[in-house]
Amino acid sequence: MPHTGKASLGARLQSSVSRLLGTRRETAKPPNPFTPGAGRLPPFLAGRGEQTHILDEALLQSLSRELPASHDFAMVGQRGIGKTALVVWLHRKAEQLGIRVVKLSPRGIPNERELMLQTLPKPVAEAADAQATVETTSGLNATLGPLAARRGEARRIETQGRVDAPSWWDAMESAARQQPILIVADEAQHFRPDVVGPLFEGVQEMRGRQAPVALVIAGTPDTWDALSKAGASFQSRLGRGRLSLSLLDEVASMQAIDEGMKATGLDIKSEEAPLRMVYADSQGYPYFLQVWGEALYNRLDWPREQAITQKHVEAAWPDVNKIRVEYYSDRWREMLNAQEFGPSGLVPVCAAVARGMIVEGGDDAVLADGDLDDLIAEGLALGGAGAINEARQFLTHMGFIIKSRRDGLVEAGIPSLMGHTLRAAVAAKRVPPQWGDGLDLEMRPPKRPTTPKG
Ligand SMILES: Nc1ncnc2c1ncn2[C@@H]1O[C@H](COP(=O)(O)OP(=O)(O)O)[C@@H](O)[C@H]1O
Ligand SMILES: [Mg+2]
Repeated sequence: MPHTGKASLGARLQSSVSRLLGTRRETAKPPNPFTPGAGRLPPFLAGRGEQTHILDEALLQSLSRELPASHDFAMVGQRGIGKTALVVWLHRKAEQLGIRVVKLSPRGIPNERELMLQTLPKPVAEAADAQATVETTSGLNATLGPLAARRGEARRIETQGRVDAPSWWDAMESAARQQPILIVADEAQHFRPDVVGPLFEGVQEMRGRQAPVALVIAGTPDTWDALSKAGASFQSRLGRGRLSLSLLDEVASMQAIDEGMKATGLDIKSEEAPLRMVYADSQGYPYFLQVWGEALYNRLDWPREQAITQKHVEAAWPDVNKIRVEYYSDRWREMLNAQEFGPSGLVPVCAAVARGMIVEGGDDAVLADGDLDDLIAEGLALGGAGAINEARQFLTHMGFIIKSRRDGLVEAGIPSLMGHTLRAAVAAKRVPPQWGDGLDLEMRPPKRPTTPKG
């Protein structure tokens, strides 16, 4: 599934125009297509075929035919794994199919009233929000009040004839019958539980009424805890709508670079061995793949060079590593700033877990679930405070650890962050010096693969 951003489309047009005109003015290198940074659609969305297939079949196809989706969706994964990229993909695709997309942001929805207003088309919201009086069957006048006061209420009043002020549910249903609605809520872990409750209830009601309304949320793995009870019951209804995102595998990682380069419109060939080196270094973390792509493209002396080779990987590695070290120092600050866990924040806890991962899991960076609490306790014992549970939740929220697909194991959110954290903790004297014994003291560039690809 190729994704071409605006720049690359422009570049393509430009190159086909000059080809048609027979001009040889293709000397300007097209802009860099890679998009390192939160929330940006990469030039090629790699390794998400399964998720886009399900979203297309079970969500977009139904809504675009004015049918309800069979369930809602939740994309869950650690920071930088590509949730927002997938949300952006979905948003674009839905709009192309004539679906109205309502994007909710946690800061933009401070209360239930705002939720109701934002999910409805503006004129409908304004009309529904007017104070309204209806005549009941007993002949009395009942005041319905503004929208927020009547989630589903208009139906419950026995009226004489027409109800001029629909409830939120009625208004949403009739709006959806005009144009199907897809509600997307990214950063779901930051939504207020008292706003999310009515949202989940509303979309559930729409499904009951067979109205074409669906909800997609995206959030970090601690989302369900953060949304408390409302989150738990929503989660239990998801079924096939549960989409967990993990690190990209080798093939997908190589494609992210190779296809990303081609999004420039240039026929840039990438050799296999260097692509595998990039995979080994990025560990399939989508953000680092974009950083790699950007650096490699910058190092390509186009039009003199037309292929990505080992030479480019070697030249680009310091650029990539510089950005990685900066990125990791943000994580370090986050650990250190968790002062509720003691004067060194969560640094000793993270270092203890990292050490466990490295000793136990080696390059695999995995840990038996049962050992995790012991390691957290070991870290907290170094002058820390706070409960093990809270520390574990913090580590999950940071994406430092994630639950493995393999039963009973936890994994590193980004494997190389383990060694980096442990080294930094030893260097800053936040943990005993012997924790650094046998640890490689430097980040090293990837080695050329020796085994043929199997
Ligand atoms: N499937 C993918 N293939 C290649 N790059 C990706 C993919 N998904 C995300 N990215 C890139 O990774 C980075 C982080 O993605 P983002 O969607 O912001 O993650 P999240 O929302 O989970 O924190 C961005 O630079 C984005 O372009
Ligand atoms: Mg995001």
